[in-house]
Amino acid sequence: MDNLPQFSALQNARMVYRPKLPPALRQPNVRIEQGEPALPYTDQAKLRELFPRTFGQPVVTLAAGKSGLSTAPLKVGVVLSGGPAPGGHNVIAGLFDVLKAANKDSTLIGFLKGPKGIIDNKFRELTADFIAPHRNTGGFNMLMSGRDKIEKPADLAGCEETVKGLDGLVIVGGDDSNTNAAVLAEHLMAKRLKTRVIGVPKTIDGDMKNREIETSFGFDSACKTYAELIGNICRDAQSSVKYWHFIRLMGRAASHITLECALQTHPNVALISEEVQAQELTLSAIVDRLVDTILKRDHAGKKYGIALVPEGLPEFIPEIRGLIHELGRILGEDEHAGMLHLASLHSHEERVHYLSKRLTDHSARVYGQLPTAIQEVLLKPDSHGNIPLSQVETERLLIDLVSEKIGDLHPDKKISDLFNPLSHFLGYEGRCGAPSNFDADYGYTLGCTAGQLIRAGLTSYTAHVRNLAQPAEQWIAGGTPITALMNLEMRGGRAKPVVRKSLVDLHGRPFKTFAAQRDTWAREDAYAFPGPVQYYGSPEVCDATTLTLQLEWDSAHPRGK
Ligand code: FBP
Repeated sequence: MDNLPQFSALQNARMVYRPKLPPALRQPNVRIEQGEPALPYTDQAKLRELFPRTFGQPVVTLAAGKSGLSTAPLKVGVVLSGGPAPGGHNVIAGLFDVLKAANKDSTLIGFLKGPKGIIDNKFRELTADFIAPHRNTGGFNMLMSGRDKIEKPADLAGCEETVKGLDGLVIVGGDDSNTNAAVLAEHLMAKRLKTRVIGVPKTIDGDMKNREIETSFGFDSACKTYAELIGNICRDAQSSVKYWHFIRLMGRAASHITLECALQTHPNVALISEEVQAQELTLSAIVDRLVDTILKRDHAGKKYGIALVPEGLPEFIPEIRGLIHELGRILGEDEHAGMLHLASLHSHEERVHYLSKRLTDHSARVYGQLPTAIQEVLLKPDSHGNIPLSQVETERLLIDLVSEKIGDLHPDKKISDLFNPLSHFLGYEGRCGAPSNFDADYGYTLGCTAGQLIRAGLTSYTAHVRNLAQPAEQWIAGGTPITALMNLEMRGGRAKPVVRKSLVDLHGRPFKTFAAQRDTWAREDAYAFPGPVQYYGSPEVCDATTLTLQLEWDSAHPRGK
């Protein structure tokens, strides 16, 4: 065999996989059922003022039946926004299939490189032939992605110009991208344009969830990928019996990924940022706890172990959180005053000096104690005001501090006799893998749902699917008004309306299940090995959802009630 085929055997098999759909979406006749008006948890008055046209819309459900939905040919745009997540290509495929089933003359265009593609009107037409090889594949390479914020008057004007000929626009993204969708929908309504805007909940971080949205697509596949790798590392730890592996896991803010991976693999330690914040644990208190576990295991003859560290941890440690807030305020003030002062300073020393004069004494001291690489990353928020924590090597910082502490406690011993650490970061390798069956089915269902919401003429909604812990047969699709998911948050020193991120609930079943077992996991080698994502075989192996989703479902539906 001289010329190898372009596609692997698995790629070929996945291209023809038919995603499972809920019954209401298996045929073109879909009816919209309206529920009660959906209101945000907080800041209602301010949000009503900011979104006068789209605030207070009802939750809607899609049901099978005579529809009256538009069968006219529609022209719709779609954009993939923010970090990639497995299942995104299936959203596009589902949207395309629904539009074409309603009218074969409908067209779908894809904006390139995220929201900037809308602002600059850069797109490509999406045809059946172009979409076919992308079905059930991972990544966002079909359209590429970007993180631009649609906020400034010039951005809104650019978008308006681009989309005014479209009947609908689907924004596939997380909290920031769905915020973009709400802002744009309100703007287009104010301009009396026909374009409706629908969001789709995406993010591997799993933090776009609430009453209506049970999980975002991508979380399932990413966690399964990480859990496989963590399981492999656990096996190595048990085999080599000499290393402590500190594994940082993606998740910009919330620790959902770390918690899910802990539930799947039973590591010796898993830090959960939300608990760190609730207990106001300082960095040195976290280090003390790690050292305690490491030394106890050493005492029991186990010089190895696994510690999971959530990427978002720094923002939840009280002293660093305070510092980040102050930095956000300073950067925001500089920008609003047109100074761009900090950004214009060339050397690191100049920046540290400038900040030492503007930070409070306490934050200046905390900043001064951080490694230079971390100091620099903290000064580079993205256009949404988020710190790029994926570049902060918290696992290495913890390793250094743990080594230092063990050295202090045992000045008589060589550190390497007690602690041999290795660091890992599992992030990007989980964002573009082929979607699990769950994410392939869920992404496709969300795409179909978004298409039906546009056919129904709805705007400023995010597509949702409920009963996800059950087989697709029992899924129920619908739409949640985006303003109901919003609150006001400080970004760049100002209160801004944004879709609220959902953090790990310390009273929820997933965390409590973990908390009940972690002491045993710390002492013993109770590792579990999830193995690679499976596509073909028994449903218990291939279609299982995350443990988070299953435990949340069990808690909301106790047996016998
Ligand atoms: P989204 O919330 O946009 O889906 O991104 C998730 C994420 O993977 C985070 O876990 C991570 O912190 C971030 O993206 C990294 O972003 P970038 O691609 O800009 O490095």
